[in-house]
Amino acid sequence: MKLCRALQSQGFGSRRDCVARVYAGAVAVNGVVCDDPETEVDPAGLALALDGVTWTYREKAYVLMHKPAGYECSHHPSHHPSVFSLLPAPLLQRGVQCVGRLDLDTTGLLLFSDDGQFIHRMISPKKGIAKIYRATCAEPVTDVMLNALRTGVSLNDEPAPIAALACERLDSVSLRLTLAEGKYHQVKRMIAAAGNRVEALHREAIGSHALPADLSPGHWRWLESADLRQLERPWPSATF
Ligand code: URA
Repeated sequence: MKLCRALQSQGFGSRRDCVARVYAGAVAVNGVVCDDPETEVDPAGLALALDGVTWTYREKAYVLMHKPAGYECSHHPSHHPSVFSLLPAPLLQRGVQCVGRLDLDTTGLLLFSDDGQFIHRMISPKKGIAKIYRATCAEPVTDVMLNALRTGVSLNDEPAPIAALACERLDSVSLRLTLAEGKYHQVKRMIAAAGNRVEALHREAIGSHALPADLSPGHWRWLESADLRQLERPWPSATF
């Protein structure tokens, strides 16, 4: 692959921008400045440095973010900042999308990718990839409520009752809910249908991949192939 093509594929701008940056001496390949955009590079393990910042070549981008409250999962937010504003320009340029959405006030694990097939697998109810939430409720969590969530609650516009894959009380007002799909406001609607109200919602994990404890709200990191395997592990073999 030509160097300028590699740069373009990683989100460093148009071919013209990439060629200009190489000619300007701003690009290093595996630690050595390269000023010829037509240089052949091997994508395997390729380390590209632009203006001193190193980027490992990735055919597809897979990223995990700790979504903070108050950010919209939209490229065109209405009244609040976008989660995309928390990502660096090359990721935006290569067109990463949110893998499902979290509400404005929901915090926790949010994925981004530019791999359409991966996005489809992660959100398709047929794949049964668990999404695990911690919900804090306005009223005490009762056994009746937990049973309703386990056996199925009726939601408007849904033809059949929807049941959680798993549901457990964490303390008097909070519970952990595991869902196989991600319908619009699903956790809030299910908990409302079970007679309570969500006051705070946090996504703890997807599949067997938990939000890393050392990743602060608003921060992101790359996902490696072992992480992707954990994410795609179907319920009930998923453990976290
Ligand atoms: N369910 C909700 O109600 N909100 C979210 O943000 C995610 C799941």
